[in-house]
Amino acid sequence: MKGIILAGGSGTRLRPVTIAVSKQLLPVGDKPMIYYPLSILMLAGIREILVISTPDDLPQFRRLLGDGSHLGLQIEYAEQIEANGLAEAFVIGADHIGDSSVALILGDNIFHGHSFYSVLTENSRDVSGCVLFGYPVNDPERYGVGEVDADGRLVSIEEKPTHPRSNRAITGLYFYDNSVVDVAKNVRPSARGELEITDVNRWYLERGRARLVDLGRGFAWLDTGTPESLLMAGQYVGTLEERQGVRIACVEEVALRMGYITSDECHSLGVRLAPSRYGQYVMAIAKELADL
Ligand code: DAU
Repeated sequence: MKGIILAGGSGTRLRPVTIAVSKQLLPVGDKPMIYYPLSILMLAGIREILVISTPDDLPQFRRLLGDGSHLGLQIEYAEQIEANGLAEAFVIGADHIGDSSVALILGDNIFHGHSFYSVLTENSRDVSGCVLFGYPVNDPERYGVGEVDADGRLVSIEEKPTHPRSNRAITGLYFYDNSVVDVAKNVRPSARGELEITDVNRWYLERGRARLVDLGRGFAWLDTGTPESLLMAGQYVGTLEERQGVRIACVEEVALRMGYITSDECHSLGVRLAPSRYGQYVMAIAKELADL
């Protein structure tokens, strides 16, 4: 399975912070926002990843992540000239996807939860149709909303409905089989002129090929769209990290635990970052796992 991180847009609700810096590069806790979705793809076992962003912001992502080889990944980059909708990611990423299945994750989506690794690996294997992830929220009208029947089968999907049929938001993590490229190419722009991911998902739903996996209350799916929610996301991450002494979305640690790099390689990455507590953590983890 290939991966795409969509990290474009203009972050208007975070201005002036986002005038000169991409939203997805802003810090959440002590690391850039994009580390969170990147670590999710890595945990799902995905190593070939395309980062899509604006022509202005792409060089900064490249500077941060390079070609990904230091993490045992292959990272490529592509421009989205205008924010023409989430589904455009599959049109831009068609060559990258080739004949594989694909996971799309939004660069501003932060997930955290116990045994997420199992949820990801179970659902990314042999994807046929599409797999969506639902999460209960108290303001579903702000999101794509999924409705399920008594047997837990997905029966409707709506984008930002005025009267939501459920409280299940569809999160910004999606798994698709290879037909998504053609589906996205044939989607018509919505009233707001965008290729809507919800229209792609509805195509699968109408053919009985869309599945909703409930993440439930044991998970955190955090918003980063406003200064207040961004601060809260940082506080959530900081509180857990301080209390438990482990880090969320430390990409070097994920690479090591997934077997993408060795503990020596991980330690060298920590040395480069060493003046920071993050760097010290990377070195400590490398030592700890080398001693096992
Ligand atoms: O976060 C999950 C939600 O994401 C889903 O529940 C919705 O169904 C889905 O439409 C989307 O809703 P948003 O209102 O969050 O979409 P927004 O236009 O804000 O875009 C989400 C992120 O993707 C944002 O960080 C900007 C980026 N983006 C957006 C567009 C439209 C791009 O990189 N390119 C784009 O063309």
